Amino acid sequence: MTHNKTLVWDLPLRIFHWALVLLIFAQWLTADVLDGYIDLHAKFGYGLLGLVIFRIIWGFVGPKHARFSSFLRGPSAIFHYSRTLITRHPSTYTGHNPLGALMVPAILIVVGTQAISGLFVTDDVLFTGPYYSSVSDETQGTMQWLHHTLFDVLLVIIGLHISAILSYELLLKKPLIGAMLHGQKNVQAKSGINHSRLILALLLALVICAFIYWLVVVAPPEVELDYYY
Ligand code: HEM
Ligand code: HEM
Repeated sequence: MTHNKTLVWDLPLRIFHWALVLLIFAQWLTADVLDGYIDLHAKFGYGLLGLVIFRIIWGFVGPKHARFSSFLRGPSAIFHYSRTLITRHPSTYTGHNPLGALMVPAILIVVGTQAISGLFVTDDVLFTGPYYSSVSDETQGTMQWLHHTLFDVLLVIIGLHISAILSYELLLKKPLIGAMLHGQKNVQAKSGINHSRLILALLLALVICAFIYWLVVVAPPEVELDYYY
């Protein structure tokens, strides 16, 4: 069977992936390492919320391998794949394998919840999330707890993800990282995708930017002055 370099990961998905990596790193830097950058932290957080919304919608309207229906499979497929993995001769999938695919919803849920909880937290000094004053003390406490705790959960998932990718690269000699950079894999041409649906991705990105602007600039309740004093 002839295998050629075939496009598997569309460009919007790849941009999503590497922007996600950069922005999560920036979130850690601006919250945990550097002082005085909480405004930037919030802006990057809005960017991350936009990325998560984009990826969820892309999971329904994007090209084949970006679609949830093409890679989220039931327990028996996950179990079967895990067994083949133990033998070090795992079944081959053009897109995500059934086990690795679980990481996609996990990361989207955790990053999405982290970004949403950020809208309701304050650092008590320089910055207050746009919806902090519109919820009860109890909800503020829950959001603060979520915002602090979920990042540790995210770090565990990222650790597992990077370890898995490196194992595939180094132990199983599967060039996954290159594929997430240039989009191509050595597979049969018919199992790849023809194009990246760039116009659709651009329109979607514009609508999401407008939504985020509305969400964090237009819609938040005005903060009453006596709230501060
Ligand atoms: C903050 C760190 C990271 C996060 C949150 C993250 C998240 C993700 C997500 C959500 C996907 C699924 C892509 C999709 O279908 O939309 C993915 C896939 C992938 N990521 Fe990452 N990633 C991170 C770091 C990295 C790093 C550092 C590498 C390279 C060493 C990497 C390599 C890959 C590869 C190769 C895939 C495709 C896996 C496959 O072939 O099934 N990721 N990542
Ligand atoms: C996915 C996006 C986000 C990530 C990964 C993230 C991550 C973090 C982390 C790791 C911390 C430090 C927590 C700690 O020290 O225990 C933090 C604190 C904080 N974040 Fe975020 N954040 C995100 C989104 C946001 C957003 C959208 C906002 C505001 C609109 C925000 C506002 C804050 C504030 C005000 C603090 C300081 C809280 C405090 O001092 O108790 N974050 N964030």
